[in-house]
Amino acid sequence: MESKKIGLLLGDEEDWPSTFEALAKKLPSAFSSKKKSCQLEVERVRIHPFDLKASTSYNLVIDRLAYWHFTPREWLKKAALINNTYLLNNPFSFQSMEKHSAYCAMIRLGLHIPETWFLPPKTGPDTEKYRITSAKYHDLFNLSEIAEKIGYPLYMKPFDGGGWRGVSRIDNEEELIEVYNNSGQMLMHLQAGLDNYEVFVRSLAIGPQVISLKYDPSQPMHGRYVVDHDFLSPEKGKEARIITKVINAFFRWDFNSCEAIIKNGTLWPFDFANACPDIALTSLHYYFPWAIKSLMAWSVFSAVTERPMRITMDFEKYFEIADSERSYQEKLTEYEKLADAHFEIDRFEEFREEQLKDLDSVMLELVRSQEFDNILTETVRSTFPQHEHEHYINHYRGLLKHWAAE
Ligand SMILES: Nc1ncnc2c1ncn2[C@@H]1O[C@H](COP(=O)(O)OP(=O)(O)OP(=O)(O)O)[C@@H](O)[C@H]1O
Ligand SMILES: [Mg+2]
Repeated sequence: MESKKIGLLLGDEEDWPSTFEALAKKLPSAFSSKKKSCQLEVERVRIHPFDLKASTSYNLVIDRLAYWHFTPREWLKKAALINNTYLLNNPFSFQSMEKHSAYCAMIRLGLHIPETWFLPPKTGPDTEKYRITSAKYHDLFNLSEIAEKIGYPLYMKPFDGGGWRGVSRIDNEEELIEVYNNSGQMLMHLQAGLDNYEVFVRSLAIGPQVISLKYDPSQPMHGRYVVDHDFLSPEKGKEARIITKVINAFFRWDFNSCEAIIKNGTLWPFDFANACPDIALTSLHYYFPWAIKSLMAWSVFSAVTERPMRITMDFEKYFEIADSERSYQEKLTEYEKLADAHFEIDRFEEFREEQLKDLDSVMLELVRSQEFDNILTETVRSTFPQHEHEHYINHYRGLLKHWAAE
């Protein structure tokens, strides 16, 4: 029987890959598509020199590494161009994973992006050429005036940020000048701060599957996702899910998260270019089984049905809608149709119903098993200091038990 091999391209994490591998072993041994049967294999990708024209045994790769690590990034590009391997995510869109392009694109689509300005760096490169160029062509500007125009509070953050690096909240002119003076050679955005908001929502998306979760950024990492099923009205929940799906379809991202704030009834997405987002057991806890199941379902569907890897993007179809006279709601409806077509939502749902009907019960069985408890305890031991082990093992066991009971 033919094999479909799913590769996991990983950093230091053990929790979700071990759970994913355990789940794969418990799934049915054969899948079928196009009158062919195939079996599933899951393997961790290894890094070594490679011949640019080499073939690969991977049909699909879930990548959690290549945004930060450049050897596997170049291997992924080779796999997409030479081997037609299906990739979560498209390595050719990494450039748009800086916040900046994603903001510009979604402003064009008419989403409510907080007012954002791009600032030339405080310090340029230390070269004669740069000094001459800036003396000739850089305009002097008044930062305080720009800040007044946007209005306090403000956020200054790198145009290509991630992991809260260099993010500052600014409440007055003195802080503004200090933060800018300290930004050095970093390219910064100055953004309207959304204060006193109703809800902070973080949506996690894998293919067409989106879950919107309540998020509390003031908590430490393990306490940020809040278990709450009713924090969004059905309309806002739908809007958050559509926007996340549209951003991903637009850029050909299969695995991403979208942060948004709802203030005075308006949904403001402000951080939605997050390559292969954090799905650690210790971050997602109660929602961890959802992430693993969804990752499995989308990977199996894409590998087994030989979903073509789409490297190119088609912004024009979206821009046509964006530039039309339609209202915001009408545009969202049209964008969603494009996104659903891109993710083949009907075919995916049919596949999940027919060939992955046991996925939910198998995941439940896994979460209740000793094998999963071992993964959980090992994860806590490698994440928290020793005196907190017992507390957090019980904490996570409780949350997962709660999930299983529900
Ligand atoms: N415009 C804003 N209004 C209100 N809060 C903001 C705004 N921009 C950033 N923040 C706060 O700062 C945090 C970090 O900002 P942001 O998410 O943009 O940076 P990041 O480096 O991409 O973070 P991560 O990679 O962890 O998601 C947000 O989670 C939010 O709490
Ligand atoms: Mg963020």
